[in-house]
Amino acid sequence: MISTHDELTERDGEFTRSGTSAPLNDDAAPVRFDATEEESRRIQALAGSSRGSMRLARLLVHQPQLVIHAAKTALRGASAGLRADHTLSWLIHVDTVRQVIPNGGMGATWGGLDTFMSLVAKHVAPTAHALELGCGGGRVTRHIRPLVGTLVANDVSDRILAEARAATVDLAPIDFRVTYGLGDDLRDQQFDAVIGHELLMQFDFDELLRFCSNIHRSLKPGGLLIASVYTFDDPGEMAQHMGMIRDHGAGARSPFRVHRMPRRTYQDIFEACGFEVVEVQRSRADEYQAKKTPHTNFVLRRRVEA
Ligand SMILES: C[S@@+](CC[C@H](N)C(=O)[O-])C[C@H]1O[C@@H](n2cnc3c(N)ncnc32)[C@H](O)[C@@H]1O
Repeated sequence: MISTHDELTERDGEFTRSGTSAPLNDDAAPVRFDATEEESRRIQALAGSSRGSMRLARLLVHQPQLVIHAAKTALRGASAGLRADHTLSWLIHVDTVRQVIPNGGMGATWGGLDTFMSLVAKHVAPTAHALELGCGGGRVTRHIRPLVGTLVANDVSDRILAEARAATVDLAPIDFRVTYGLGDDLRDQQFDAVIGHELLMQFDFDELLRFCSNIHRSLKPGGLLIASVYTFDDPGEMAQHMGMIRDHGAGARSPFRVHRMPRRTYQDIFEACGFEVVEVQRSRADEYQAKKTPHTNFVLRRRVEA
């Protein structure tokens, strides 16, 4: 199931698998995920210009049906064990991006996919039946789809999944599914690979143990989990993180409710859930459009029982 490195080619810093193409700057995307520097600056300025309640009010005045949607999503998550739901934060983010880029998508200003996608291309077989967890607006889904055989992509909100559908209409079929909670709805031994970019950092310690146990259960023996999280490893990273919280705030305006732990703690959690570590790579700071501490990307394998 696991592909070998010789299937990979590196072209101008873009990782593709021979015979497929997954360029990280895809001009054909029906939704834009690559804000210019000027657009990023304007989006940041807008995001920081008004209080969380104002941004929330703007969204709900324009789309009042989201009140019911957000309440239902939060209740369903809470009943399935989630302490906090972030849906409104993501929808506010999408609304902010659209004010500057009318066809812009969730994460248009984020960047930071090179290392993560190179690991997916390197380790996941082209025939894999894969699950993307927390696909958001489809930004990463676009790059995953050409690299796998079949793809299921989930998220907690059908509004957010509508964004991802629109962003991937030009690609091979993707089975989009609404999920909730901590992965209890995943079926046993279903997937060759589970891929989650910027998903697991939303859960705290015990939520993560349960989610990762469910992911482990959903993988075929030998199957892979490729996940990005934020870690505290290098000197000064705690101070930098505090700066982000100071500048971007918390609550509805900013989805900065990030659980961030040392890499070793994440590794302990993954191992406790039955995974072995295949590879860990930190993204490079220059992959990101914004100044931020890079993700730590884990490639984990469900152990094959002897
Ligand atoms: C930071 S965004 C990342 C989106 C996308 N992976 C990307 O990198 O562009 C996190 C996404 O996880 C989704 N999410 C939050 N809780 C979730 C859960 N319990 N199960 C699946 N997705 C969840 C959010 O709705 C949001 O779309």
